[in-house]
Amino acid sequence: MGKIMQKEAKSRTSLRFSVGVALMAAVLSAPANAAQGLAIPEDSLGLYNFSVLEDRSPDAIQFKGGDPGTNKRIAKSYHTAPPMVPHSNAGFLPITRESNLCKDCHFQPGMIGMKLEAGMPVPMPASHYADVKKEELYMGRWNCMQCHQEQADVKVLVNSTFGKAVKKGR
Ligand code: HEC
Ligand code: HEC
Repeated sequence: MGKIMQKEAKSRTSLRFSVGVALMAAVLSAPANAAQGLAIPEDSLGLYNFSVLEDRSPDAIQFKGGDPGTNKRIAKSYHTAPPMVPHSNAGFLPITRESNLCKDCHFQPGMIGMKLEAGMPVPMPASHYADVKKEELYMGRWNCMQCHQEQADVKVLVNSTFGKAVKKGR
């Protein structure tokens, strides 16, 4: 039995060896293919329709929200998604260790569950506090911009199929 297995093992090794040689040959001939005009053009390598070697600045983004208190809340993409910021953040950023203007309006532990009138800041939910009753913010939520973003109309490079997938019930 031992002999047969040894034989088989030997033939497998030689098969692997010849596949290896074939692969190597393919790799070595790749530059030759490129020289024959089969190389991918520079402007087809990236998502943009210009050369990847060009260094163009992206278009400036115009955010569309008005001052806080003048905007409609935006429907969430899905349950538990962080809601989008419907208002302008002009003058509130950056958030630093010492200053957080978002918190000045949204840190409202006493308002959780209250019916909101138009123009009232939406209170941060209970998940954002270490302890709602003791009115302690959970510091893992300090950098609001990590999860909540201002909105702008921008052209996307690749369209999302997310909404369609949701409608199909996936
Ligand atoms: C001057 C008070 C004020 C400041 C400062 C402020 N907001 Fe608001 N925010 C509001 C009000 C009021 C609303 C309700 C929508 C409206 O009327 O504009 C709101 C809405 C939101 C919402 C939507 C909540 C929901 O459930 O729809 C998010 C998210 C939000 N703000 C995040 C932020 C972040 C992040 C910052 C800091 C960069 C910030 N806000 C600064 C007052 C403020
Ligand atoms: C780690 C991500 C994260 C950070 C950081 C964060 N949030 Fe949120 N926020 C969420 C999510 C997710 C929700 C949706 C409710 C939930 O699941 O807790 C939410 C909900 C909210 C709401 C809506 C409450 C409601 O009743 O609809 C407001 C307002 C808000 N956050 C404000 C803020 C502010 C202001 C900060 C900064 C001080 C902040 N958040 C930091 C993820 C975050």
